[in-house]
Amino acid sequence: MSLQDQLETLKTQTLAKIAAADELSAVDQIRVETLGKKGPITEVLRGMKDLSAEERPKVGAFANEIRDLLTNAIEQRKAELEKVALEKALASETLDVTLPGKRLTHGTRHVLTQVMEEIEDTFVGMGYQVVEGQEVETDHYNFERMNLPKDHPARDMQDTFYISDDILIRTHTSPVQARTMEQHDFSKGALRMISPGKVFRRDTDDATHSHQFHQIEGLVVDKGVTMADLKGTLEVVLKELFGADRKIRLRPSYFPFTEPSVEVDVSCFKCGGKGCNVCKYTGWIEILGAGMVHPDVLKMSGIDPEVYSGFAFGIGPDRVAMLRYGVNDIRNFYLNDQRFLQQFKGE
Ligand code: PHE
Repeated sequence: MSLQDQLETLKTQTLAKIAAADELSAVDQIRVETLGKKGPITEVLRGMKDLSAEERPKVGAFANEIRDLLTNAIEQRKAELEKVALEKALASETLDVTLPGKRLTHGTRHVLTQVMEEIEDTFVGMGYQVVEGQEVETDHYNFERMNLPKDHPARDMQDTFYISDDILIRTHTSPVQARTMEQHDFSKGALRMISPGKVFRRDTDDATHSHQFHQIEGLVVDKGVTMADLKGTLEVVLKELFGADRKIRLRPSYFPFTEPSVEVDVSCFKCGGKGCNVCKYTGWIEILGAGMVHPDVLKMSGIDPEVYSGFAFGIGPDRVAMLRYGVNDIRNFYLNDQRFLQQFKGE
């Protein structure tokens, strides 16, 4: 077969192969096999040295022509296949922008935060400042300054978690009283403050007790503050919180840091006062303790009890929230169960 015929056959066969190739890698392979250094075209060109001087340029030109033709055919087929691949990729990655999106769930403020902020608002409206206390306290402020010396039996009621002999996590928010009193400048007016926060006790957890709960401490100190001011203030606040229909009672009580002391109860939300497991069959739930600031507590904070007097109270916002929303187990507040928390969306 003449070289021309060989080239002609090569052309026909290769064009057929190119047309049949349906992958880029196959086209590449054809390119290497046909046009590469070891391919048939190179072979033909190499064989030209045996040709006559007359034939050589003709065959050379024909070989070049075929090479160019095949190179073009290969490039064209590659472009076609690339286009097909791109179209396929675009089709598979299509985004339907009309599909509904994934909705982010909105959190809510914790129900206790909501209740505490509401109580704060009531007091701020009456001119109280909101003071931040500290959860890790010293024995000195938690007990001593609250008139509970080391051997005082009333310490048993507030047994707690000690970090060392002198440092503990506070059992009540009352130490904020002492911290605020010793800082207050009475030349600038009366002291009126509330201090909300967490407190900790070695309690047995049950439906109305948790080893961690909240209190809102309140304190007013000025010249001429009386028990009538205490009663009037609590009446306003409790009516605001519970509405007019709940019953409230004041009982004489005892706190080492107030004298006289009272306990304020609200009629049970669950049984309405008949007696049930929530109110421990008494019909009443303790909401707050209060009293007139003990003269010794004033003295220890550098305030002259002959000139100044005051009242103090401690509210349990956990109980307020239970009453408000009919939650029958205080432990629900601390389990972080979304099914519970999501019920209190707030405003
Ligand atoms: N600190 C008291 C308690 O935890 C509550 C209280 C505060 C009572 C202020 C009187 C005055 O039980």
